Amino acid sequence: MALKKLIAITALGFLSQSCLAVTVDISARASHPIPKLLWGQMFEAGPALYSQSGDGGLYAELLQNRAFQQVTPGTTAALSAWQAVNNGNITVIQESTPLSAALPNALSFSVPAGSSGQVGFANTGFYGIKVTAGTSYKASFYYRFPTTTSFRGNALVQLQTNAGTVLGSATVVLSGSQTSWQQITTTIVPTVTASSTANLFVISLDGEAASGQSINFALLSLFPPTFKDRPNGMRIDIAEALQEMGPSFFRFPGGNNLEGQTVATRWKWNDTIGPLTDRPGRMGDWGYINTDGLGLLEYLEWCEDLEMEPIMAVWAGYDLGGTSVAANQLQPYIQEATDQINFVIGDSSTTGGRYPTHNLCSCEQMFPGRKRVALGRTEPFVLNYVEIGNEDFFADVSYIYRWQEFVGNLSATFPQIRFIATSYTSGPVLTPAPQHYDVHVYETPTWFAQNSFYYDDFERNGTTYFEGEYAAVSTNPNDIFGTPADGRLTYPTMQSSAGEAAFMTGLERNGDIVFSAAYAPLLNHISGTQWTPNLISFDSGAVYRSSSYYVQKLFSVNRGDEYLPSTLPNQNGTLFWSVVRETSTNSIIIKIANTIGTSAPLTFNLPFNTVASSGTVQVLTGAATRSNTPTAPNDIVPIARSITTGKRLDYTAPGYSVSVLTVVAS
Ligand SMILES: *[C@@H]1O[C@H](CO)[C@@H](O)[C@H](O)[C@H]1NC(C)=O
Ligand SMILES: *[C@@H]1O[C@H](CO)[C@@H](O)[C@H](O)[C@H]1NC(C)=O
Ligand SMILES: *[C@@H]1O[C@H](CO)[C@@H](O)[C@H](O)[C@H]1NC(C)=O
Ligand SMILES: *[C@@H]1O[C@H](CO)[C@@H](O)[C@H](O)[C@H]1NC(C)=O
Ligand SMILES: *[C@@H]1O[C@H](CO)[C@@H](O)[C@H](O)[C@H]1NC(C)=O
Repeated sequence: MALKKLIAITALGFLSQSCLAVTVDISARASHPIPKLLWGQMFEAGPALYSQSGDGGLYAELLQNRAFQQVTPGTTAALSAWQAVNNGNITVIQESTPLSAALPNALSFSVPAGSSGQVGFANTGFYGIKVTAGTSYKASFYYRFPTTTSFRGNALVQLQTNAGTVLGSATVVLSGSQTSWQQITTTIVPTVTASSTANLFVISLDGEAASGQSINFALLSLFPPTFKDRPNGMRIDIAEALQEMGPSFFRFPGGNNLEGQTVATRWKWNDTIGPLTDRPGRMGDWGYINTDGLGLLEYLEWCEDLEMEPIMAVWAGYDLGGTSVAANQLQPYIQEATDQINFVIGDSSTTGGRYPTHNLCSCEQMFPGRKRVALGRTEPFVLNYVEIGNEDFFADVSYIYRWQEFVGNLSATFPQIRFIATSYTSGPVLTPAPQHYDVHVYETPTWFAQNSFYYDDFERNGTTYFEGEYAAVSTNPNDIFGTPADGRLTYPTMQSSAGEAAFMTGLERNGDIVFSAAYAPLLNHISGTQWTPNLISFDSGAVYRSSSYYVQKLFSVNRGDEYLPSTLPNQNGTLFWSVVRETSTNSIIIKIANTIGTSAPLTFNLPFNTVASSGTVQVLTGAATRSNTPTAPNDIVPIARSITTGKRLDYTAPGYSVSVLTVVAS
């Protein structure tokens, strides 16, 4: 099957690329289809390595530490993101009457005797809260009085600036006779748009009327309108930025965040489903607590909303602390993975393991498919790919038996599903032989340009590859994960983006064995950054698309459906291209990455009977070190213009550029 080199024609003009035009002959006959899932997204729920990507990011909840999950009552840390207003007395307690088994903690609030004015408490959001006039914010909380009192009075539920200016307000009634948990829901429609995101969510009572009262609060929440109006849904501006990329798959839930620092703190699918009161949250892998409000069902619905296929990972017996579960202890985790898959695709009769909170009958067994139906989703979801663990190239030897036992069992139960190995082909020999490997690479821009031919020499033997994480992260080959002072990038630069594009032309050329690829990390809250660079940055107010974002988008929305062989670029050069066709529109799409600062003239020969006299070019270009940043978010954006064409197409790729030429020809 290694026909590429035969079809290839050696590049011309190698030594004098900058002055002599490079001539590229294009074949009218496709060599392979462009895989349907070639371009997509890798998502790691956060806060995690990938800095506040779920909570405080894609997941639209505006309150941080909303349910005091996984905190130690009585500590200052337990009050993270909460503050007193006008001497309101607040502390996190372990509730004697918890709201639910999953949420044992509550906020104890008391109004000191002799108070006056509005006394209460506030949440600072995820590094701020964006407040827009006329927008409906859905606020909710649970409350109860620990002991009955005769109090009955108003509580104000408000959005305020940090300086205390009220932006929007709602009034609810609290009753001292309410000693069991009661949920209050209300809507705040601000009358003023805040000039910054330095705002607070505040609940307060009249200090005189409520003097001496003590009230417990649990699971407080504030949602702006969400993407497609989904309850418990996604933040609209981030969702739209992701949607614009036209992704065809979504890899979740990680990444390192799947693994857990310990076996006990691994990502457990069953802790992320059902009412929010059933979700305990978990300590994520990088010292932050995940609410798991963005849970398995939300991921699956999100995939459907963006017409993406899930590439879902199951926990596979290895944690980030380095513990491998012994071979004879794996059974419960294989059951857990089976149940997770059955929740996604099973019917109502698939029985499962033991899940105390989720049993639907008295028989001590959970029916994962029935649980999904009970949560309102009758139809199974599409699920073709399941990844076994994450980055098991770090755990070489134990992966031999873990792979064997997981895939042995899962493929017997789910023969239609394809399983992806997360070790490397250079690692231990796995049985059964993996059909798919997930390859990760974080390197320099130069490495990416020099490895545009990475897959060309791979054996064509049925094994295919998922480039599950990649990014040019540093200009220093000796210190890839160092600091900005050592070359680590803070934001993608035009040089790093052009390097990635060069590599991506190679992924298209090798689309017969590379079936998917995703840049990583996807999302970063600029106030919670733990890793740089990221594809999309944001703060509580706005979204910032990087130059690499535009590269991903240009490749994805111009992906075509078949690959047309062409004169190969010089493997050791600096200029790379690939050609695809979109058969439904007869469009020939040429992608060009120029990875140095000198412009490069090219001549393409289009061997078609009819070629339109004009086409379009979309160009992303800028100086090597230029980046889109929060202060200059649109420094590097694709510019489209028309170009004159014909059977011969002349084009000069600017220095440090990614160009997409589209010409109709048949
Ligand atoms: C604050 O509340 C705690 C109980 O949660 C109580 O022990 C303490 O005395 C209160 N402080 C004031 C100043 O009211
Ligand atoms: C989820 O499953 C684990 C066992 O895998 C169990 O210990 C835990 O209680 C379950 N969580 C819920 C919320 O039922
Ligand atoms: C299935 O899992 C069990 C328990 O871990 C293991 O003993 C068995 O070998 C596995 N089956 C296959 C076909 O790998
Ligand atoms: C295909 O080739 C790779 C690399 O040589 C090897 O690791 C893999 O096991 C092979 N796949 C099959 C199905 O033989
Ligand atoms: C590229 O450079 C390497 C050495 O760096 C050399 O072995 C190889 O033959 C070169 N390939 C081409 C196509 O020039």
